[in-house]
Amino acid sequence: MAILPILEYPDPRLKRIARPVTEFTPEIQRRVADMAETMYAAPGIGLAATQVDDHRRIIVIDVSPDKSDLKVFINPELIEADGEIVGEEGCLSVPQVFDRVRRAAHIRVRAQDATGKPFELEATELLAVCIQHEMDHLMGIVFVDHLSQLKQMRVRNRMNKRHREAQRA
Ligand code: NI
Repeated sequence: MAILPILEYPDPRLKRIARPVTEFTPEIQRRVADMAETMYAAPGIGLAATQVDDHRRIIVIDVSPDKSDLKVFINPELIEADGEIVGEEGCLSVPQVFDRVRRAAHIRVRAQDATGKPFELEATELLAVCIQHEMDHLMGIVFVDHLSQLKQMRVRNRMNKRHREAQRA
């Protein structure tokens, strides 16, 4: 397994729209394992393939407190979404930035696992928020894009500063 480099906002590659996975090869299973390792090492509770510059519809999530419940969503689709929840979100591609985003409170998602087997899952609370956040990534959307223009500008300035400092170091 390997820890993959994570793209950081405002990298334009985060805006790419992911394409569906059509063949469930061993390479896909390796990619899922590497994404899980990268997410756990960060540490984070979710990672979309877009964030590791792989533009296929693959997501890994684990919101359990003891990191014992890895969920893999390939080609995820929301088939139900209702209610409203506002939670504070962060993102491995936007380190140290947290803000409130409005999401559906209850969702039902249809997806395939790493072997291509289809499944459906109902989610509320943190898991529902996390699935919607990661599915946004597959559409080229970062949670910052849901904030006001002023906040987006502040985040961009902060991240640009972070990247300048990293270059100098
Ligand atoms: Ni994210």
